[in-house]
Formats: sequence, C-alpha cells, structure tokens
Amino acid sequence: MSLPPPGPDRTALVTGASSGIGACIARDLARRGHGLVLVARSADRLDALARELGSGGLRVEVLVTDLSDRRARADLPGSVADLGLTVDILVNNAGYSTLGPVARSDPEDEMSMIEVDVTAVAELCSRFLPGMVARHRGAVLNVASTAAFQPLPGQASYGAAKAFVLSYTESLGGELRGTGVTATVLCPGPVDTGFGERAGFAKEDAMASLPAFLWLSAADVARAGVDGMDNGTVVVIPGAGNRVGAMVGRLTPHRLLVPMLAKGHPGLRD
Ligand SMILES: NC(=O)c1ccc[n+]([C@@H]2O[C@H](COP(=O)([O-])OP(=O)(O)OC[C@H]3O[C@@H](n4cnc5c(N)ncnc54)[C@H](OP(=O)(O)O)[C@@H]3O)[C@@H](O)[C@H]2O)c1
Repeated sequence: MSLPPPGPDRTALVTGASSGIGACIARDLARRGHGLVLVARSADRLDALARELGSGGLRVEVLVTDLSDRRARADLPGSVADLGLTVDILVNNAGYSTLGPVARSDPEDEMSMIEVDVTAVAELCSRFLPGMVARHRGAVLNVASTAAFQPLPGQASYGAAKAFVLSYTESLGGELRGTGVTATVLCPGPVDTGFGERAGFAKEDAMASLPAFLWLSAADVARAGVDGMDNGTVVVIPGAGNRVGAMVGRLTPHRLLVPMLAKGHPGLRD
C-alpha cells in the first residue's frame, strides 16, 4: 500500500502546519510532490511556509482555521472544494497539552484542548473519509503520542486524548481494510518544538524528566509518519527507546505505574 499519487486537483491537508512536527510533515509531503492545504491559526507562519513550499510550482493553499471552533471545522470541506481540490491525504497533527492537576485546571482551556486534540480528529476523519472510500484512494495520518500508552497524571486530559487518537485510528485501520484507504497513527516521544513551552514546561524540567536518547528531531518524526503512511503501517512509534517505553507503559500494571508517574511529573510539583 503506498500513498495516493499526487495530481493537480489533489491535495494533502495538514493541520497544525504552522510549526513543529506539522510543518515538517508538510515539507516531507511537498518533497514527495504532493500539493498541500495548510491549516492552523497563525496566518503569517502558514503564509511563509506556503511561499517556501510553493516556490517550485507546487500548489500550496492556506486555510486559517481555529480547530477548537466547531463551525470553523465544519466549514473546512467546503473551503477545500471551493479551491477545486480533493483531499487524498489527511494529516490530523494539530494538538497541544495542558499541564498540572485537574483540580487546579482552567475548564475553558481543558475543553478547548479536547476540541482540538480529540473532536477535530474525529470530525475531520468523519468529514473526509467518505470521499476517500468512494474514490478507493486515500491516506489518513493522525498524530497521537507515547502518552497514549498509559495514563499520565499531570497531563490527564492530554494522555486520555492521545489514547483516544490511538484507539480510534487502530479501529479505522480495521474498518478500512480492502477500501484502498489507509489509516496510520504516529506516536512520537519527546520532540523539541513549541509544544513543551505552550504546555508550560520549563525546558530544563522537560529535558531532565525524559532521557536524552528518547528525544528525536521534528524532521525525523515527520519522516517516520509519512513513511508509515506510505507503507500502510497502522501504528508508528519513532525511535527504539520510545517503542520500548510504549511497551512498558502498555504492559506494566497501571496501579503500579501511575503512582510512579505522578511522583516524577514536573506538572505536579507544588
Ligand atoms: N513535541 C512533542 O514532544 C510531542 C510529542 C508527542 C506528540 N506530539 C504531538 O504532535 C503534534 C504536533 O505538536 P508539535 O510538537 O509540533 O507542537 P507545536 O510546534 O506547538 O505545534 C502545534 C500545532 O498545532 C496547532 N494548533 C494548536 N491549537 C490549534 C487550534 N486551536 N486550531 C488550529 N491549530 C492549532 C498550532 O498552530 P497555531 O498555534 O498556529 O494554531 C501548531 O501548528 C501535536 O498533536 C502533539 O500533541 C508532540
């Protein structure tokens, strides 16, 4: 199973393309000749990336969208159709984490995060997959995390959100067998992007709590995800250390693991 071939009226829609892993996924797809629709809120960053990737003649469009806004999400398929484009590749990468105990959380921020990390993933799959299946052609890449493999006190909603993305995408993989459409879930370990800062981690805390061998570059993680789509792999965990960590997270009894994770998490320090 390989990625659908690029074409002038075909596109890859990448959410969260304004920075980090999403920008690298967009660059990787562009290198492979795929036209792009870049989605996020930061218009200036998306425009700069569109200029960079479109300089060789590739068609790169920008749709500035707040994925926490239900109406804005629902408008996306119509906006793509108005451009005369068909989405053959859907990359649900946009996401962020809140930090700290739920008992001290901001309810608005928690709900907004779940809208972006969970609801937008399910909504865009639900809106774009019917066309892909009807055309017998398509690939979906959803970005989860190694946080998906065990509960994560200190980032409880984030861990649960990524567990949703992992389970949902594995189910999609089962449903889509034989349709010509594939579903892949990318589960990165730590990557030095704007993610940690946005969540409120001090860089030294993040680096100290996760050993150096787990950290990979955004470009390497993006390449692993796009290669995974190209190979029809369902679950992609970049890096041997992260694959071992995911297995430990899955197999260790959670009643033993969760207290240890709670003790070491920087977001739970007073
Ligand atoms: N970095 C890590 O250590 C790590 C590890 C595992 C998994 N991940 C996952 O990888 C994905 C990409 O993260 P990253 O590390 O590349 O972080 P990043 O550099 O902070 O990128 C996050 C992207 O999500 C977009 N986004 C956030 N809120 C949005 C909203 N309301 N509407 C539309 N777009 C929104 C941001 O764009 P705007 O701000 O312009 O809207 C940005 O493009 C996320 O799903 C994250 O959970 C990251």
